[in-house]
Amino acid sequence: MTAIHILNGPNLNLLGTREPEIYGTTTLKDIEAACQTQVSAAGGTLVFGQTNAEGELVSFIQRAGKEADALILNAAAYTHTSVAVHDALKAVSIYKLEVHLSNPHTREAFRHRSYVSPAVDGVIAGFGAMGYRLAIEAAFEHLKSKTA
Ligand code: DQA
Repeated sequence: MTAIHILNGPNLNLLGTREPEIYGTTTLKDIEAACQTQVSAAGGTLVFGQTNAEGELVSFIQRAGKEADALILNAAAYTHTSVAVHDALKAVSIYKLEVHLSNPHTREAFRHRSYVSPAVDGVIAGFGAMGYRLAIEAAFEHLKSKTA
């Protein structure tokens, strides 16, 4: 069975009320429920997590490297700062996708640099909560083409 791990970084627990003009009104619980439905329908299993702590992101990535076929990561602000997250991603060889609700490249200059992008297979940004759906679809397509 295909195992998908989805990890969300700092402040994403506040989705729904956090800067809704940028991030929309969908909560992280709503996103998790939609991801669960989609992954189950595709015959996979889902682990969905959120943490505000950088070290926990690193541990979750290491765990995904052992247990998952694909990792979908919205590292939030740590995207732009964390060499530890970059190194953790480089250390795991599963399929990895970076997701952002907003398009960081249209925003402040400090969001233009991603330490995640050079360590993942693809980036989905600017599609709001739909980005998670697109990432799951891309992961299943990729894994199917690998086993076909
Ligand atoms: C974000 C974009 C980041 O720049 C920001 O720090 C976040 C959320 C997004 O999903 O658009 O917390 O990753």
